Amino acid sequence: MKAVICTNYGVPEVLKIKEVEKPKPRNNEILIKIIATSAHIGDTRIRRVDPFLVRLVFGLFKPKNNLILGLEVSGVIESVGKDVTLFMKGDEVFAFTGFNLGGYAEYICLPERVKYGERERKGLVAIKPKNLSYEEASVIPAGALTALKNLQKVNIKDGQKILINGASGSLGTYAIQLAKYFGAEVTAVCSAKNFEMVKSIGADKVIDYEEEDFTKIGTKYDIVYDAVMKSKHSQCKKILTPSGVFLNNNNIPKIKEEDLFFLKDLVEQNKLKPIIDKIYSLDEIVEAHRYVDTGHKRGNVSIQVAKDYVP
Ligand SMILES: NC(=O)c1ccc[n+]([C@@H]2O[C@H](COP(=O)([O-])OP(=O)(O)OC[C@H]3O[C@@H](n4cnc5c(N)ncnc54)[C@H](OP(=O)(O)O)[C@@H]3O)[C@@H](O)[C@H]2O)c1
Repeated sequence: MKAVICTNYGVPEVLKIKEVEKPKPRNNEILIKIIATSAHIGDTRIRRVDPFLVRLVFGLFKPKNNLILGLEVSGVIESVGKDVTLFMKGDEVFAFTGFNLGGYAEYICLPERVKYGERERKGLVAIKPKNLSYEEASVIPAGALTALKNLQKVNIKDGQKILINGASGSLGTYAIQLAKYFGAEVTAVCSAKNFEMVKSIGADKVIDYEEEDFTKIGTKYDIVYDAVMKSKHSQCKKILTPSGVFLNNNNIPKIKEEDLFFLKDLVEQNKLKPIIDKIYSLDEIVEAHRYVDTGHKRGNVSIQVAKDYVP
């Protein structure tokens, strides 16, 4: 099968398309024909070795074992192992591949269920929301799960005021919609070119980070979520209520299968939708990574693996 191998650490050009062996599902695994994946910031950070820990996990000097990036996928189940009970051939699914990765390929095997504690490394699978294209479904798992777990960690409640910095990025656009779902009033910090987009997905107020320093405004918030990791707790104390909490993406709680099912339901109730900035083909993976590396994408970038797929 065709796959993108991360042949070295560094610039996007280290990603090379190669032929590799098609995986075979074990007894507890499903084989997914991948229709779309994403250029997720997590993939680009592994490629760029950010942080250094990446080398300890994926290979000290260069990535080992034909490393295939790709944290998120959507596709169709082509076959299932003999012990699989939750899915069947032909099911349309979307999945978080975890740090075993593997989304930049024509096929991937994932366990239908994973043992507690293995989740981050083995991935999570659920039936794809009916109302989304494969490209849209491919950009949900990692970003939306991260935003959800973060907001749940601080126990976001109806009527609270939340400020979200980096509101126009992947996490930001999910966090706005989830915070609105939980009943919060949302102030979105982004550049003026993204005002209309963040308002269209629920932001009540907007602040232009190029014009105003959000850490110096007069309003107080119950939650300040710096989704883009540009500020520190100490800087944000002034805009927090006495019981207010600062949140970024450190120490994200463990994710569970139920979290992905919850997101699927929200999408199907039209309470959550992915924002897609650009769609590239798998052959354009280098351009896609270059674009994500700019740090200015709007929402998410999807990658078509099987563009003309017909069921
Ligand atoms: N996405 C995930 O699932 C995930 C999971 C864990 C950790 N993280 C980490 O969380 C951070 C954000 O991830 P992401 O995927 O949401 O990033 P992203 O989509 O690449 O963020 C890009 C957005 O950030 C905005 N931005 C850039 N500089 C800004 C600034 N100084 N102030 C406010 N907004 C700014 C950009 O808007 P402009 O074009 O207007 O500048 C752009 O829309 C990264 O550090 C990532 O490694 C992400």
